[in-house]
Amino acid sequence: MIDIKPRRSVLYLPAANVRAIEKARTLACDAVILDLEDAVAPEMKAEARRQAVTAVRDGGFGRRELVIRINGQDTPWYEEDLAAVRSARPDAVLLPKVNGPGDIAACARGLDGDTPVWAMIETARCLFQLEAIAATAQTDRLTCFIMGTNDLVKELRATFLSGRANILSFLMTAVAAARAHGIAVVDGVYNAFEDDEGFLAECHQGASMGFDGKTLIHPRQIDPCNQAFSPTEQELAWARKIVAAFADPGNANSGAIRIDGKMVELLHLAQARYTIALAEATKSADPVAPAVPG
Ligand code: COA
Ligand code: MG
Repeated sequence: MIDIKPRRSVLYLPAANVRAIEKARTLACDAVILDLEDAVAPEMKAEARRQAVTAVRDGGFGRRELVIRINGQDTPWYEEDLAAVRSARPDAVLLPKVNGPGDIAACARGLDGDTPVWAMIETARCLFQLEAIAATAQTDRLTCFIMGTNDLVKELRATFLSGRANILSFLMTAVAAARAHGIAVVDGVYNAFEDDEGFLAECHQGASMGFDGKTLIHPRQIDPCNQAFSPTEQELAWARKIVAAFADPGNANSGAIRIDGKMVELLHLAQARYTIALAEATKSADPVAPAVPG
């Protein structure tokens, strides 16, 4: 059985917002990011840090991964944020504005423990270092890339385009770097949280590109996101058909077989097993998910 930690829906909230923290304990997201950075005004940084530590210590988030996004390494809040993470011990720390592998190494050293590091991929400089940054999975406990599309668009002096043609190459390069080093990779946020149609289209686009999930800013984005990043019943039925066909003794020595008029190879068997494992993992993660058909 393949062991998968679902990261379909990763919800940000400003750590100074106690009401949002309380609500997050009841929401069907796979992970929660307590933000100390962009969503928190300078005069609220200390309060947000205190609330984040309290939230982690109090717990109550169940199966949801709990992550603290700290302020960047060149800000006056970084050292105190790191100290807070060291004492709170969340499931991971999210480091913003990562430019190269050295930033991950410095953060991991500063944590002085075994807390995994997630990296915000959001600067122009990091594009040219994506593979080296992902490679710190082997040396510095990096386990996930989070695309910071708002900062990226700002840095590039680009604009928001429906369909994101202007940043697709950046996004796909990040997915490839993450896959090359076996880490998770989660798409950027969709700011217009009342635009359900546009949001869903971007979820499906992200899923088709290989992202494990999407970062979210509002509770109403959770259910459609979970659905978009879970296998459909049709995909699952096809996966089961492939597994059954290769289990047939008549196909024991075949690398490529025919199912419903399509060529299916052993690589598709591996893919099918992943689909089934993901469906199982998301079923147990999501209390409202429909039962996985047998
Ligand atoms: N996490 C948890 N709960 C949230 C939430 C979030 N990100 N965003 C809103 N909620 C809650 C509200 O507290 C409210 O709860 P209640 O009615 O039970 O009290 C409910 O959802 C409805 O919220 P709504 O009134 O529609 O939103 P808002 O106008 O209060 O807030 C935002 C809108 C965008 C300011 C808010 O959603 C937010 O802060 N999002 C996250 C921003 C962030 O972290 N950005 C950093 C990364 S890009
Ligand atoms: Mg940012």
